[in-house]
Amino acid sequence: MSLKKEIQRRRTFGIIAHPDAGKTTLTEKLLLFGGAINEAGAVKNNKIKKGATSDFMEIERQRGISVATSVLAFEYEGIKINILDTPGHKDFAEDTFRTLTAVDSVIVVIDVAKGVEEQTEKLVEVCRMRNIPIIIFINKLDREGRDAFDLLDEIEQKLHLRVTPLSFPIGMGYDFKGIYNVWEKNVNLFSGDSRKNIEETIEIEDLSSPELDKLIGKKAADTLREEIELIHEVYPDFDGKEYLEGNLQPVFFGSALNNFGVRELLDCFVEIAPTPRAKESSTRLVKPDEKEFSGFVFKIHANMDPKHRDRLAFVKIVSGIFERNSPYLHVRNGKKMKFSSPNAFFAEKKQIVDVSYPGDIVGLHDTGNFKIGDTLTEGEEMQYKGIPSFSPEFFKYINNADPMKSKQLEKGIDQLMDEGVAQLFTLELNGRKAIGTVGALQFEVIQYRLEHEYGASCSYENLNVYKACWVEAKDPKSEEFADFKRVKAKFLAKDKRGQLVFFADSAFTLQMTQSKYPNVKLHFVSEFEKMKN
Ligand code: G4P
Repeated sequence: MSLKKEIQRRRTFGIIAHPDAGKTTLTEKLLLFGGAINEAGAVKNNKIKKGATSDFMEIERQRGISVATSVLAFEYEGIKINILDTPGHKDFAEDTFRTLTAVDSVIVVIDVAKGVEEQTEKLVEVCRMRNIPIIIFINKLDREGRDAFDLLDEIEQKLHLRVTPLSFPIGMGYDFKGIYNVWEKNVNLFSGDSRKNIEETIEIEDLSSPELDKLIGKKAADTLREEIELIHEVYPDFDGKEYLEGNLQPVFFGSALNNFGVRELLDCFVEIAPTPRAKESSTRLVKPDEKEFSGFVFKIHANMDPKHRDRLAFVKIVSGIFERNSPYLHVRNGKKMKFSSPNAFFAEKKQIVDVSYPGDIVGLHDTGNFKIGDTLTEGEEMQYKGIPSFSPEFFKYINNADPMKSKQLEKGIDQLMDEGVAQLFTLELNGRKAIGTVGALQFEVIQYRLEHEYGASCSYENLNVYKACWVEAKDPKSEEFADFKRVKAKFLAKDKRGQLVFFADSAFTLQMTQSKYPNVKLHFVSEFEKMKN
């Protein structure tokens, strides 16, 4: 098959959700449709159980499972679908943010009873900044939930999206009768028997047909007619181009657990979701159908065996064909590298592959050469952009607790930071090292892994920081910037790339600083240039 055809038949996406909304269940049902697994329950539940923050076995278990479920690929009607796993646990949000740089679209799962939750808001914000096409799936319709129109309003307001329902529920919870598919113009009746997974689909070209009254009863039929009329009045018609540009978000309703409304979602998804998209690099826009291979590392996973330090670097292929044993340029360190056993992923299995195409993910064995964001090419000197660091929210000084092992500690910290577990800052004033994370759990993970994988031990000391912000001076030579640096000297640090960072100890300080120094911009993401639009 030609490169163009391979690209045309690929869809790479992520499912994002607040924990418990039903991401794992939906993933599983999608895999079932693809025939990639035979029974429900095959996708391991990759959640850190609540209250298990000190349970290192749980952390290790989680790491093991998340390698297996990092990419779940399957075929559906000739389309190769790659689902990239995104941890829902908020302590691993940064991992999810980075994975979003490798997806071409997302499906957002929302619990019908809970509506828009905190994690969903944050993740959707990142998608919006990147104009990633979004489809929304409102889940758990078999339960009593919120009014569908209220939910659509909330999605528009809290997530700042412009929605258009492509399906609509008929009743809800106890009264849930099924779904009217606006996209395909048919009615799906809910049997309520999840074991059978049988859906009855009845074509209803014309909603005024008395056939509808017979199917769902006159009252429900009249309500549905009114609601659909309202939908056509209030919401914009679906427009594929607008969806692809991130300006319009189709909404589906269903119940993942009951496998209801999932096929409709998948059928529409393969039809409308984008094929692998072009990606901006430091020098130019790279198109997927270019002949030469290029890709970038968006995730690094440490080996589960502490005796071997090799890791798995996950590379998203942006252009050309990736071939096993071909020499590729590791642009950052200028070295050519060959990969003799690249892994591809199929359902929950890994296997060695000879070739991979744009949109695919390959897992490369790495002995410490890769950092998140590294680019591989056939020789071209360019770097893919857009893997930002996000402002951490938890901070501690890190100290060496065993002076005999300072080299091990340094190496361990270095590699864990490359993996993106946390961010390291060096204070300007005294050169002390501080670690910033997006979740409290990471500190325990770091301490545990330093000890078990690097034989180093560390201790922490509290550091009272509310937020770390990347500093951008409109004019680095200005009096204002010099004053800022002098007054705030105690609160300035450098990140790993040498960018200047300001540690604000409270929201108030942040606000005051920003108003006192209007020409010194404080950003919550490291790649503020890219994230502006
Ligand atoms: P997550 O990955 O987003 O965290 O959610 P997950 O799929 O694990 O689902 C969270 C809980 O919600 C699970 O129940 C799951 O069975 C349930 N669930 C998912 N989809 C539906 C649905 O359509 N209807 C209903 N009623 N429930 C749904 P649990 O009791 O926490 O776990 P389990 O013991 O069932 O695995």
